[in-house]
Amino acid sequence: MGRGREHERAAGPALVDREGILRDLSRHLAAAWASFDRPRSAEPEADAELIGRLGAGLPEEPGDAQAALGDAVHVLDASVSPSRPLFLAYVGSSGLEVGVLGSALSAAYDANLATAAGAADLVDRQAVRWVAQFVGFPLGEGTFTSGGQTSNLTALLAAREHALPGAREHGMADRRGAVYCSDEAHHSVVRAVEAAGLGRRWVRRLAIDEQRRMRVDALAEALARDRADRVTPVAVVATAGTTLTGAVDPLDAIADVCAEQDVWLHVDGAYGLPAAATATAGRHFHGLERADSATVDAHKWLGVQKSCSLILMRRSGPLRAAFGHEERYMLHEADVANPVDLTLEYTRPFRSLRLWLALRVHGAAQFRTWIERTLHNAALLADAVREHPRFELLHEPMLSTVCFRHVPAAMPADRIDAHNERLAHAMQRDGRIFLAPAVVDGQTCLRTCFVNYRTTPDAVPLVLDVAGELGDALSRDAR
Ligand SMILES: Cc1ncc(COP(=O)(O)O)c(C=O)c1O
Repeated sequence: MGRGREHERAAGPALVDREGILRDLSRHLAAAWASFDRPRSAEPEADAELIGRLGAGLPEEPGDAQAALGDAVHVLDASVSPSRPLFLAYVGSSGLEVGVLGSALSAAYDANLATAAGAADLVDRQAVRWVAQFVGFPLGEGTFTSGGQTSNLTALLAAREHALPGAREHGMADRRGAVYCSDEAHHSVVRAVEAAGLGRRWVRRLAIDEQRRMRVDALAEALARDRADRVTPVAVVATAGTTLTGAVDPLDAIADVCAEQDVWLHVDGAYGLPAAATATAGRHFHGLERADSATVDAHKWLGVQKSCSLILMRRSGPLRAAFGHEERYMLHEADVANPVDLTLEYTRPFRSLRLWLALRVHGAAQFRTWIERTLHNAALLADAVREHPRFELLHEPMLSTVCFRHVPAAMPADRIDAHNERLAHAMQRDGRIFLAPAVVDGQTCLRTCFVNYRTTPDAVPLVLDVAGELGDALSRDAR
């Protein structure tokens, strides 16, 4: 059979027009950064023509590069961006400029951190050490992952191998292992338990106290019950900054129980752990240094782009015990740790570069100041809610999350939940403040989370101004 000529089709000129790419990049980045400085946080909707094009099939022939790039920018403009200063929904980020540069450079070089990648490995390890030092965690080893979900899973796989040696080899067989977390732990913990093959029914979701923190007596009781039933405790997952209200579980008291019972303590600090570095909130994290492992997301309160998370281990060894393999196609020098032996991922981007650059350029003191500012913003909002006759604060903020609700004067109690849900969506459409609805103790509310360094304290009053204006209008319409 003769060979075809398929291999001869030239790449379109747009692919190699590097000068053009640089010009386009600087133009579009300038526009993006200018838009971050505007207070508006909701984005205009994509126009009908673009939406039509987004339904089209796979193009066979080269297309117009400028048209494609124009659509890409339009898509981004019409998508929610947490980098805007008044994006207060979920747990956002700041999208630091230097992180954009790090992302572009790492994409250009496209290093693969699965293999011994040379100096990039050293940057990866230095950034892990810096973050551990910043939050006050005594590091044995650690690695970057794609997000808090993967970091939590990484920790649980290490804890499983520690508590139930041979689980990698034999699976769970007839063994039963439980994981303990508060009722307000992030769902990623449950998913990690499922993925680790322990089975979701072995997640012990424990009662919380009046500060919405794990109750240590409930933990001790659950551990005792499971021991009596011959269920092996695999790990206790304490949350340092719950997603719903920013509560930090009592780490030191939990560490006492874990030490007594010889159970692995993992701290899920995906959102909250950077606050351990601050004078204002640092005291909540006492006991962190006793944990076996900790998750921290750099793409949340450390301000860099998605996705960039870390799993930190107090000792050296559990990562290799959980993930090490002998590969015949990835030989490495005996005395050099192969990064792939320390993570769940194979091909792994150089995601640490943007964080490393940000820490080098801004320094730890600037990060502490920025995080303090977000804590201050949350305290300002909580004060304003307390003082306002038509708003109700649903919890005392420990970190930077504030849940509150609008309570119009004449509205019957059974309509307040639906009203607040409508209000949150109305605010998202309005665009001046982007927040999201949430439910605290069965009460639907407005949830704000201050992690964006661009949010200035003088913008905080706008939250209640807008919520009050739109909430009053909605309640008038509903009458
Ligand atoms: C406490 C906590 N843990 C884990 C996660 C999951 O992190 P990621 O979305 O980076 O996977 C989140 C996300 O908000 C979180 O708040």
